[in-house]
Amino acid sequence: DPLEVIPKWDKEKVKSTLPVRTAAGHKGSFGTGLLIAGTRDMPGAALLAGLGAMRSGLGKLEIAAEPDVIPMILPSLPEATYIRKIEEKFTSPDFNLAAYKAIAIGPGKIPNEQMEQNLAQLFQSEVPLVLDAGALSKRSYPKRNGPTILTPHPGEFSRISGIPVEQFASEKSEYAKQLAKELDAAIVLKGLDTVIAFPDGETWVNPTGNSALAKGGTGDTLTGMMLGMLCCHENWKHAVLNAVYLHGACADQWTTKKSPHTLLAHELSGLLPEVWKSFE
Ligand code: APR
Ligand code: MG
Repeated sequence: DPLEVIPKWDKEKVKSTLPVRTAAGHKGSFGTGLLIAGTRDMPGAALLAGLGAMRSGLGKLEIAAEPDVIPMILPSLPEATYIRKIEEKFTSPDFNLAAYKAIAIGPGKIPNEQMEQNLAQLFQSEVPLVLDAGALSKRSYPKRNGPTILTPHPGEFSRISGIPVEQFASEKSEYAKQLAKELDAAIVLKGLDTVIAFPDGETWVNPTGNSALAKGGTGDTLTGMMLGMLCCHENWKHAVLNAVYLHGACADQWTTKKSPHTLLAHELSGLLPEVWKSFE
């Protein structure tokens, strides 16, 4: 039905679904996130996603990045721990993907054979999986017991679906819904009025955010926030929706006092503490 109105994920829904941080919780109970991100040419993506994740409720963060990347981002994110060779980890007998509450892969990565091999490993687990940037390619997805979440911008949506941007631009929600069903994955189709389409047909539009977000790095921050929220929410759909909503709300907070021309992606993570508090 092309006339169907897609509901907005709104302030009240955010307020009623954000998790309470239990008094007796410890870093183990809030979940460990795994972020696979960053290459020599794009080390900042790993840092931006890492900052977003550590601001978003998780207990611990492990970042798997190319060895050269680690000393670059470590000074800005000493709270994380680091994995130098994720491919070696995958084959070591004491490595268990089920130890992670959620995994995000792709910021600052390029699509290649190594990426496909890593994804094949990850698809075998039941852990909620966020695929962004370099992890977004045209492929089919195996039936999984855990959720798979794809976060394409329009260009990436076009790359994974084969549909030209001009064709879906005016009917984003219909196309996002269709792809979510086809791939059995949640589709977060980003941009003004981000659409969040779940594989069961449930679809929402996000009302927050503005043109301040149209700057390199903000998508990496979102992926990190989603990883963190998946770790601290019980309901994975709420985690995805609240990450998109609060990421946009941080940009809206910025433009109350500052020009939309001037936001830097890492500043979203700096704005999140007060923005999040306003929904508690
Ligand atoms: N209004 C509201 N939100 C917007 C707008 C807008 N006009 N423009 C962008 N956004 C939001 C999107 O919804 C998304 O959350 O900003 C974020 C941008 O995410 P990406 O497009 O993934 O950008 P990012 O990954 O940070 O860009 C870095 O990725 O694909 C590569 O080459 C690309 O250099 C780019 C790099
Ligand atoms: Mg991106």
